Amino acid sequence: MIRINYCSRTTDQPDFDEVNEIAKTSSARNNECDITGFLVFNQNYFVQTLEGPAKAVNDTYHRIAKDKRHKDIMILSYENDIPKRSFAHWDLAYITLRKVSREIYYPFMTSGDFDPYTLNPNSIMPFMHEMFKGLLENDKEKKAI
Ligand SMILES: Cc1cc2nc3c(=O)[nH]c(=O)nc-3n(C[C@H](O)[C@H](O)[C@H](O)COP(=O)(O)O)c2cc1C
Repeated sequence: MIRINYCSRTTDQPDFDEVNEIAKTSSARNNECDITGFLVFNQNYFVQTLEGPAKAVNDTYHRIAKDKRHKDIMILSYENDIPKRSFAHWDLAYITLRKVSREIYYPFMTSGDFDPYTLNPNSIMPFMHEMFKGLLENDKEKKAI
């Protein structure tokens, strides 16, 4: 199994519903291909983790890279032979950065603004895990309402 992290720039400032739509079709496809993943986005950027069998991840990545809904795709990290998945139960989890407080991602950034292109390869997975905690916290809040 391998894991890829990439980031990209959005082409049309997607709102939550548009990403929800991407995630719906992507989840079904990922499920078929034994891929799990996590997508973080805001108006300007996407950051995504894809993990699973090498060929499936590779094929999916190439399909995603051709998608006109984003551009300037850059691989942030590539891990060979991962012992286990980080997002094992998620075909494609996703969260908007708007729901994550600035204090959480600020330590990962070299300047005050969110810019995933500046993420250090060693800090990507810690960053994604922090974002994922944000997702779980949000879910908890929703359930509490
Ligand atoms: C930011 C972003 C993330 C995406 N993530 C996935 C994904 O995890 N899995 C997937 O199959 N497609 C994903 N897609 C959609 C693909 O780009 C593509 O539209 C979809 O796989 C259908 O491809 P096809 O029309 O060539 O069959 C993503 C698209 C974008 C813009």
